[in-house]
Amino acid sequence: MLENLKDQPADKILALMQAFRDDPRDDKIDLGVGVYRNAAGVTPVMRAVKAAEKRIWETQETKAYTGLAGDPAYARALGGMILGDAADWDRLAAVATPGGTGAIRQGLELIGMAAPGATVWVSAPTWPNHLSILRHLNMPMRDYHYFDDATREVDFDGMLADLAKVGRGDAVLLHGCCHNPTGANLTAEQWAQVADLLAEKGAMPFIDIAYQGFGDGLDADAAGVRLLAGRLPQMLIAASCSKNFGIYRERTGLLMALAEDAGQKALAQTNLAHLNRQNFSFPPDHGARLVQTILGDADLRADWMAELEDVRTGMLDLRRQLADELRQRSNSDRFDFLARHRGMFSRLGATPAQVEALRRDHGIYMVGDSRMNIAGLNAQTVPVLARAIVDVGV
Ligand code: LMR
Repeated sequence: MLENLKDQPADKILALMQAFRDDPRDDKIDLGVGVYRNAAGVTPVMRAVKAAEKRIWETQETKAYTGLAGDPAYARALGGMILGDAADWDRLAAVATPGGTGAIRQGLELIGMAAPGATVWVSAPTWPNHLSILRHLNMPMRDYHYFDDATREVDFDGMLADLAKVGRGDAVLLHGCCHNPTGANLTAEQWAQVADLLAEKGAMPFIDIAYQGFGDGLDADAAGVRLLAGRLPQMLIAASCSKNFGIYRERTGLLMALAEDAGQKALAQTNLAHLNRQNFSFPPDHGARLVQTILGDADLRADWMAELEDVRTGMLDLRRQLADELRQRSNSDRFDFLARHRGMFSRLGATPAQVEALRRDHGIYMVGDSRMNIAGLNAQTVPVLARAIVDVGV
């Protein structure tokens, strides 16, 4: 039977991770996979996570199953952090999932169950795994303009023109903040226009929020999703704790469905729990328990927020340093967008040949579409990167 299998295309980001590991050069620089690294190149366990782990180790008395939806207290805590005052628990169904990817997968399956044949609209470009999961599920998809290659800003006119073609009952996948891979984000006013358009079209927004706290701050990064939750009758939200809690390998995510009323919420909740049961049964608990412990304790929460803020401002500093360095070396302001972008990533706008030259001649690894992980830099490597970017002629 196994001989009938077809080879699968390698995931671009994961293949790059391997190529970097295999490169023997000491001065190589990894700007590939989206993992935060501090100035020493380490992805640290956050202080509050360590403290919560200790507390859980000391007090947890059972590892028996939680519920199919995970512990509801986790959903309340994380959902509250994401939605703030817009969290209406009379209308919100929620399940814990294995990571943000698990939430995306379950959300798309829910769309397929509720509206077979509905088209899912994705930004061009988007996280490659969005496309891969959609293809795997055999779901119809179309893309909408998002990024202007010339200005490296959001092509908002193009986006609105494409979203005007969205059909009633279609779903529109949006990045809540820190757009991956481009780094270009909607303004509050643009979010409001998108909300109006989706409401008019009768479309279902599906927000992927994987980097809350990495852009303009925890609340500011959730402004778009909160605005939509306040205006739209229904929406889906997939959240990840991998980055903002630094618990990548714990696989900690949440899928929320905002329903129109309590009856519809109950229906959504049953279906979400059913999907968990079919795909993996009970969701992982350890990461969820860490998040719930941190968010539920004033001291741990404050310490986690302070450390997250340091991470965020550190990335902003790196962005500014890189933009300054490139302004000097290129004698132009054409890289100033790097300081305007937010989150872990920026799409540099290099050609595939230039990306290859950066890897071959300079040992600098970025994704083939020239997405760079800003958090892979430090004060020493910023000038090295700037020199290399100008050297290969970007
Ligand atoms: C990324 O985009 O690099 C991260 O989300 C990690 C991944 O799983 O691709």
